Amino acid sequence: MRVIDKLEPTIFVIFGITGDLAQRKLLPAIYHLIKDGLLHEHTAIVGVSRRDITVAELLNQVELCVLEADNVCDETVLEKFRYKLRMIRFDPVKDDDYDTLLQTLNDIEDKHDMCMNRLYYLSIPPQVYEPVIRNFGTHHLNEGCQHKKAVSRLLVEKPFGYDLESAKDLIEITSRYFSEDQIFRIDHYLAKETVQNILVFRNHNPIFTSLWDHHHISAIDISLSEQLGVEGRAEFYDNVGALRDIVQNHLLQLLALVTMELPKSIHNSAALHQAKQALLASIPPLNMANANVTRAQYVGYREEVKNPRSTTETFVSLTLTIDSERWQSVPITIRTGKALKAKRSTIVITFASPAEPDTTNKLTFRIQPNEGIDVELIVKRPGFEDKIEIVQMDFSYRGVFSEPEHPDAYERVLVDAIKGDHSLFATSEEVLAAWHILQPILDAWERTDDDLLIYELGSDGPSASMPAAPVTDSQPT
Ligand code: BG6
Repeated sequence: MRVIDKLEPTIFVIFGITGDLAQRKLLPAIYHLIKDGLLHEHTAIVGVSRRDITVAELLNQVELCVLEADNVCDETVLEKFRYKLRMIRFDPVKDDDYDTLLQTLNDIEDKHDMCMNRLYYLSIPPQVYEPVIRNFGTHHLNEGCQHKKAVSRLLVEKPFGYDLESAKDLIEITSRYFSEDQIFRIDHYLAKETVQNILVFRNHNPIFTSLWDHHHISAIDISLSEQLGVEGRAEFYDNVGALRDIVQNHLLQLLALVTMELPKSIHNSAALHQAKQALLASIPPLNMANANVTRAQYVGYREEVKNPRSTTETFVSLTLTIDSERWQSVPITIRTGKALKAKRSTIVITFASPAEPDTTNKLTFRIQPNEGIDVELIVKRPGFEDKIEIVQMDFSYRGVFSEPEHPDAYERVLVDAIKGDHSLFATSEEVLAAWHILQPILDAWERTDDDLLIYELGSDGPSASMPAAPVTDSQPT
């Protein structure tokens, strides 16, 4: 069993429990936390859904999701899950339903005979965030339990807003009812093992720490490629696209971790967020001219989302520089796409080699798959000839740390939210800084879609010679 600090009694209230994200990530994570005995014995789960769905139906879905991920699902764990779970039918626009929810939470605490922390997980469409949060406030769901001895927390999924303005509005409304301490904005990439390792690596390996600047690093590439297309999220994705879905959050957060100034203590959450925010603030707003932006859509996307006029990008790549003494002129390329050849997320640091530009050292953080870190070295090839070759020194988590198996990112997200630790969540300032960087690109895309390229499914992405198919007026078949 994994060892972590004792967690407090908690009621998870899951909005959007039948949605894609809850099913793929959250419910399997809760299953694993139960399986590993990590949750407090007084833990309750309240599933909130517009649909009338029973505990048995929900558990069937949990079983399917776990089977898909693990190939095996333990009946005794499902039984414990069942014991903790209640489902309630809930319509976010109905006032009475918030009272029913509050009553349900009070009943659970009465049954357990204690105050429990309340953790609301919101995986709901962005347009209903605002009314739901307002109603939380007016119905006192933002407070701790009836005796006020426990806390209420909000765990929210991205997107945090649709653009800079809507993000400001959302943050303002949320802050009327919840303090920043109560809000946990999930960026599950921050909870991946290799990503958590970035600051540890930078802090504890002086041979690299001393080289971490523009004198020694000539380029940084951050890439998140996916093999899957939009799967069951067509409607959501078509409104969002790759820039909002991945760049605004995961990729800019990774960039910040790699390039920010190291705080005195990397374990001090406030200092860490300050450093990250300062870094994001030092990236000038990007536009089509200064960031070499490419956007593209995969072949067949429009049919898949049943929108023949869609100009939503499923691929985006851009190059930026950071306005700071440490990083002057170092090109940083960020790239993400769906339906590509391989699922692969990496951060590649290329070290400068002024004498022989062809022989550079590269440091790669492999976020997934096969989490680890490798360094490319130049060596002499054995033999009489003076030939050199590039070889890899490779650290893989799987090879080195076989026990205990590391937790999935969502397990870590849940555990940290229960503990009230904000280190791996995004602050409102970071969210706004990221929108600020990208807003001019969004504005340019509003004006024209002439630059949209297409790419083949299973390829490496677009090449500039593949212009997009023109949008058509035909209806989907
Ligand atoms: C999510 C995006 O945040 O990250 C999805 O909304 C994407 O579109 C997913 O598929 C990728 O996460 P992972 O952990 O599977 O790489």
